[in-house]
Amino acid sequence: MWQLLPPAALLLLVSADTRTDPPKAMVVLDPPWDRILEKDNVTLTCQGAPRLGDNDTLWLINGSLISNQSPYYVIAAATVEDSGEYQCQTSLSTLSDPVRLDVHVGWLLIQASRWVAQEGDAIQLRCHSWKRKPVVKVNYFLNGRSLKHFHWNTDYHIASATHQHNGSYFCRGLIGTKNVSSEEARILIQGLPSASVSPSFLPWSQIIFYVLMGLVFIVDTVLYFSVCRELRSSMGLKRNIKVQWNLEPQDK
Ligand SMILES: *[C@@H]1O[C@H](CO)[C@@H](O)[C@H](O)[C@H]1NC(C)=O
Ligand SMILES: *[C@@H]1O[C@H](CO)[C@@H](O)[C@H](O)[C@H]1NC(C)=O
Ligand SMILES: *[C@@H]1O[C@H](CO)[C@@H](O)[C@H](O)[C@H]1NC(C)=O
Repeated sequence: MWQLLPPAALLLLVSADTRTDPPKAMVVLDPPWDRILEKDNVTLTCQGAPRLGDNDTLWLINGSLISNQSPYYVIAAATVEDSGEYQCQTSLSTLSDPVRLDVHVGWLLIQASRWVAQEGDAIQLRCHSWKRKPVVKVNYFLNGRSLKHFHWNTDYHIASATHQHNGSYFCRGLIGTKNVSSEEARILIQGLPSASVSPSFLPWSQIIFYVLMGLVFIVDTVLYFSVCRELRSSMGLKRNIKVQWNLEPQDK
């Protein structure tokens, strides 16, 4: 069997090689909301593998490099000017996808754990007030219709999104005696992807890997049966060699 191993081992090496591409860095918001109000605080963290002793992180805002080299970018008391697209990179990762942060002015703001969701996803909605002032008699609206009323300001949880959750949300409530509303914000619920996975979603390296593995299997099988046939015919012809054949391949 040993003579059949090298091509398989080579293929495993090739596939291992394609997996050693550096990971993409990721910008993570804490707290997680990507729409915030003026004076809110948010810390952006760059998640990516740093090399030991080389912790420098690159940060880009709207594509321009900034001087911060820490894995954290702290926004204290946000202003509208902090709105933008944030990207980061560490020494052992590639540039992250941009994360959009929007700083709004107003009394109330609707926040969501995600703005684009698949059917079945959980979504958390929040009616956030400026400087976290207390809000009472909070109402959540979807497409202009009241969805849920809370006496105290409470998050609204969608356990499993359906197409009925598709649309524009806002919230309304009382801050002191002021009756205030947030702007509307849209949540897009996408239908479940069709069951057939298009081959274009498979990376080419994977397709080539599977095709080559298939070829190795076919070649192995053909070789196995031809060796067996040879074995049988040579055993039939020369019974005196039988002992030798039996000893050799089985000991390996
Ligand atoms: C932001 O942080 C400061 C300092 O910790 C705090 O006083 C302030 O209330 C925070 N802002 C909000 C909106 O929570
Ligand atoms: C949600 O609405 C958008 C357009 O407003 C539509 O393209 C999409 O298919 C809808 N999703 C569902 C699940 O109905
Ligand atoms: C706020 O104003 C709207 C009309 O704009 C009214 O329907 C609603 O009842 C008011 N909310 C409260 C809690 O008073």
